[in-house]
Amino acid sequence: MHVRLDNPVDLDAFRRHARQLLASGVPPDHVEWSEGPASEASGDLFGGAPGEADAFELAPPPSMPSAARHPVPASFVALCADVILHRAPQRLALLYRLLWRLAHEPALRHDPLDADMMQAQLMAKAVHRDIHKMRAFVRFTRVADAEVGERHVAWFEPDHRIVEANAPFFARRFAQMRWAILTPERCVEWDGQALSFREGANRREKPPPDAGEQLWLTYYEHIFNPARLKLAMMRREMPQRYWHNLPEAALIQPLAEAAGARSQSMIDAPATPTRRIRAPMPLHLLPASGAAPATLDELRMAAHACRGCPIGALATQAVCGEGPVGARHMLVGEQPGDQEDLAGRPFVGPAGQLLDRAMAQLGWARDSVYLANAVKHFKYELRGKRRIHKTAAQREAEACAHWLDSEISLVRPQALVALGATAARALLGRPVAVQAERGAWVHERADGLPVFVTLHPSALLRLPDGERAEAYERWRADLARAREAPGSPSASVAMAA
Ligand code: URA
Repeated sequence: MHVRLDNPVDLDAFRRHARQLLASGVPPDHVEWSEGPASEASGDLFGGAPGEADAFELAPPPSMPSAARHPVPASFVALCADVILHRAPQRLALLYRLLWRLAHEPALRHDPLDADMMQAQLMAKAVHRDIHKMRAFVRFTRVADAEVGERHVAWFEPDHRIVEANAPFFARRFAQMRWAILTPERCVEWDGQALSFREGANRREKPPPDAGEQLWLTYYEHIFNPARLKLAMMRREMPQRYWHNLPEAALIQPLAEAAGARSQSMIDAPATPTRRIRAPMPLHLLPASGAAPATLDELRMAAHACRGCPIGALATQAVCGEGPVGARHMLVGEQPGDQEDLAGRPFVGPAGQLLDRAMAQLGWARDSVYLANAVKHFKYELRGKRRIHKTAAQREAEACAHWLDSEISLVRPQALVALGATAARALLGRPVAVQAERGAWVHERADGLPVFVTLHPSALLRLPDGERAEAYERWRADLARAREAPGSPSASVAMAA
């Protein structure tokens, strides 16, 4: 008997035919399956109207042999749905043979090593793999379209008949754009509302590269990691037969050839600093609780291990001040930033560079002052791999205040310069409106040290371009005043500029 499927992936038609054959007791070796449009002379047995039932497991007509009454497992229906997409012509005969055998050999469903079953499973696997490869390797190109403005068109050559089965995936993934995937046997199009299918296309219809392709190639080149190159695995994942439709494939050979030299230069390059430079100080090395550190080194070690607030646990290390003991001025910032945290030194990042520039312009040597921070650990929030500065909460700044007090008594400066509100509050013990109080010496500290308030350099870095130059000049004038004023009580009348 000759049975034909007009549409080679029409699972419903296959099920109808197979069920009728089974019900009629036609053994598999009496059936010849074919596919494609009917020829006049084919004389198909079941080419006409299908039966009304639509599942193998539906009750058979009373005339059906008892063996065929066994329902097939649901997994077999799913297997058929995959295998029918396979290109091999013998798949239909294989599926019907399996159906027949499931109905006549109850033990078959429990035999994982049956040759027919294994062959069908291999076919299903090949189809799954092809579906996956299509999802991974379809590359759309933007095409101007006189009617709809813009379409994205891709050319792909699947191994199996997977276009219809895979189309809903692309419709979900690219729901907002109009696209078409052209393949030699079947094409699918999405107009933003519905999928439509048509006959296959010719390779010549593949659109020429667009600007997006160049972008993709640049991106591919950048993410290509020469140290991780495994050509055999790459060929397995990205089989060579797909390469002629993948623009990035042209890059693989030159990138692979250069991989050895590039890996070597990565090995030779200096290591990037690790995030955690030192382990926290063992507690037994800390000064006895409550005792103020007797030296700056002791202070550094103790502040490093400080867990008086939660910030310390996340930072690389405490960043205490640097500069000469006995410096005339101590300049106090807010807290170390990302770079200071890694380097273990204050004011080495962008804000520090701005401060360096202003001081150099004033002829004020950085190493003549003591530079410190009100808070000793870097507080941040992770965004991806970036650590974004977060201002310390008031209770965190208060928990840290005794380290700054110790630093002041160990360094013994004659004047304090508060850079920004956190420093001003730490030094004056009250909230300070920096813009209102800037540029003046304030005499409020119990130890008699005068405090000069001005902006933090980061505040200037955050200003819009148009405002920065003028603000910088004003800030530099503040610093000039802070440097000149000896911090004597008579200077306390210095006014805001
Ligand atoms: N900002 C500060 O307040 N201190 C530093 O050390 C760096 C940036």
